[in-house]
Amino acid sequence: MSGQPPVVWHEAAGYLVRDPYGNQWIDFTSGIVLANAGHAHPRIVDAIRTATESQLLATYAFAQSPRLDLLEKLVSLSPIEDSKAILFSAGTEATECAMMLMRRHGQKIDPAKVGIVSFSGGYHGRTLAASLAGGEASSTDWLDRRQVGHYQIPFPFGPRWPWGRMEDDPTGERAFEACVQQLASQGIQPEHIAGFIGEAVPGWATWPLPHGFAAALMKWAQRHNIIVCFDEVQSGCGRTGRWYGFEHCGVVPDLITLGKGLSSSLPVSAVVGRRAILDDPPPGSMSSTHGGNPVCAAAAMANLQVLQDERLIEASAQTGQLVLRRLQSLKQRYPNHILSIHGVGLFISIHLRCPQTGEPNAALADAIAMEAVQRGVMLFLTGRGFIKIAPPLCIDAHAALEGAQVLEECFDALIPLVD
Ligand SMILES: Cc1ncc(COP(=O)(O)O)c(C=O)c1O
Repeated sequence: MSGQPPVVWHEAAGYLVRDPYGNQWIDFTSGIVLANAGHAHPRIVDAIRTATESQLLATYAFAQSPRLDLLEKLVSLSPIEDSKAILFSAGTEATECAMMLMRRHGQKIDPAKVGIVSFSGGYHGRTLAASLAGGEASSTDWLDRRQVGHYQIPFPFGPRWPWGRMEDDPTGERAFEACVQQLASQGIQPEHIAGFIGEAVPGWATWPLPHGFAAALMKWAQRHNIIVCFDEVQSGCGRTGRWYGFEHCGVVPDLITLGKGLSSSLPVSAVVGRRAILDDPPPGSMSSTHGGNPVCAAAAMANLQVLQDERLIEASAQTGQLVLRRLQSLKQRYPNHILSIHGVGLFISIHLRCPQTGEPNAALADAIAMEAVQRGVMLFLTGRGFIKIAPPLCIDAHAALEGAQVLEECFDALIPLVD
């Protein structure tokens, strides 16, 4: 756990972060895109306090009300027909569960239908290796070590359209066809693909899948009995100005993974999806000791209620627009250094490029982020040539614009030095 600005987080409340030495920051990170309702929201703190005082701190798979309430809430928020849900702790566990469900489903059709397709450059967590390293035959019967079968296609990121000019394929439909052909040229046939997992609005891109690409992906998946899972761990729970990031893409997947902003606090993650898929594994085979822990479930439930009651999803859309509009002048000022400034809701990124090569400029992006931190705006270093703006959705519009102004000042201070 290193590689970020050297600030000791002592208190984080709402959209403000404080260190123990009297310094305060406007938070443009939400932790790592986690505190959607705001840090330490009083209603979430209260829910956690009440839960910890209730003398029910853990139940494993035994039934308890907080877990049931949260599951019912998740099902009520799901646009997938006849949904079910299951709870875990980390986002990466939700990813693992989704992959297991996709492979189980595929193998019922054909033992060779185990492949998983995802986007290059995406992120879904760190633990597939945990299953591969485990020794029990029953826990790895969905996974053939000799044939992990994982394939990647490019993400259709407009500013760096991998297929030439986006203007030639504005909806992305042909781009998806190119992906299918790319898989075929590697000898990978859709009959052997069990599932697709990807972010509809990736955290690194903050760019929604173009409608035509998303529609072609769903059509391909339906034709070949492939399960589509959108990873909403980062883009879900109102971050993009809608409940789910995929709502920007005009499609509904079979499975959704959630985490981070699901509780804005304690570790809670979930897989939500079609009943037939979630009911496939035998009882107990998806269990997790802490999944749906009563205290964590109470925190998540309070968080979802706060997002709704305080209309934070609408706020995300509105404040995001203000920030985005404010930042656009930077692109005009520094066209050689800035490739693109875009986003949905409070999920905004500024992509920097080297004027000479056009490649992502990680050194400059991180230097500007570090400068902003020194001037009172909390940002994380992405190391990938972009600056990510993801404040808590409760951020006051004036504070968000003040943060944007500080960021502009950092560009004005640093770019002349590198020119
Ligand atoms: C899109 C996405 N999926 C999954 C994960 C993994 O979540 P966790 O770190 O809680 O395991 C992350 C974490 O950053 C993420 O951004």
